[in-house]
Amino acid sequence: MKRRVFSGIQPSEMIHIGNYIGAVKRWVESQNDAEKENIFCVVDLHALTVPQDPHALRERTLELMALFLAVGLDPDKSILFLQSHVSVHAEGAWLLNCVTPEGWLKKMTQYKDKSAKQETVLTGLLDYPVLMAADILFYDVHEVPVGEDQKQHVELARNIAERFNYHYGETFIVPEPMIAASGARIMGLDDPTAKMSKSSAHIKGHVIRLLDDPKDIERTIMRSKTDSGSEIRFSKDPEKAGVNNLLTIYHALTGKSKEAVEQDFANARGYGDLKKAVAEVVIASTEQIRVRHRDIISDRAELERLMKLGADKARAISEPRLRDVKKKMGLILG
Ligand code: TYM
Repeated sequence: MKRRVFSGIQPSEMIHIGNYIGAVKRWVESQNDAEKENIFCVVDLHALTVPQDPHALRERTLELMALFLAVGLDPDKSILFLQSHVSVHAEGAWLLNCVTPEGWLKKMTQYKDKSAKQETVLTGLLDYPVLMAADILFYDVHEVPVGEDQKQHVELARNIAERFNYHYGETFIVPEPMIAASGARIMGLDDPTAKMSKSSAHIKGHVIRLLDDPKDIERTIMRSKTDSGSEIRFSKDPEKAGVNNLLTIYHALTGKSKEAVEQDFANARGYGDLKKAVAEVVIASTEQIRVRHRDIISDRAELERLMKLGADKARAISEPRLRDVKKKMGLILG
């Protein structure tokens, strides 16, 4: 039997190379693995957990769907859809809410970080990991490829699945988080001690967005923060976090081994050479994506057709599991 893979991304900002390296690029690899059946979702309901401008959210959602196609996700090979088009997610989250102790949610690191920055903390922000558990569990998923920051949420989904199975009998598959050995936590280019994050995208020099202009990509990388030394090697030393981050980006995008990467810079004259090489690799690996995205986004009718197709396929998988869960919980099926 094929192993089923599910992952998602929020349309809260245009995606950055951290999202690409830690998640989306790996989804494309998973799509090309004959042993896997892949489902990828634009999680627009998750984006509502912090205030959004409705018009901008709609535009970014379409942009992100177009980006799925531009990076090489193929609607004939993977199921690609919009979370809000399939009501199983919201309905399933409610059912899972009713087996999830609130204490589990208050302990989530991301909730603690994000809520500290909000004047008014919305209930949806606290409940966000339960919606994410519903995304995963109602599709009988084995593997969830995500970056390091989502590991705790996938572990929570595991705990919810186990708790449900204990109370109502074997129902949900307990999913595994799949975290890349390298590149699962790309750091900000302005500050290599902080994770590159969509919510810090407004800070100058912090992110490289996948659709950024090559000139902007080059400028951000050339100005990225490094240390006062000159040694170019992978390192866990916090002092060398900037160089380590640049090497990690280069490593992920070239697919070369770490040894080969260090060898490439054995004769470099300083960090300027490293930055130039990283900028070239980032620009080259995103160039086709930018070109394809421009074409795809211009055909809105085709995008809408593909989203509908994906949602139909997603419903066919998740609705039977939803009915099963409702029945087990004592609801009368309509
Ligand atoms: P989101 O939209 O914040 O991020 C999308 C993916 O990108 C990864 N990521 C990173 N990887 C490496 N370095 C970084 N600096 C970096 N920043 C982000 C994230 O780990 C993620 O894999 N709640 C999720 C979306 C979601 C989901 C799901 C994922 C909703 N339902 C079900 C998997 C399964 C989120 O907000 O990701």
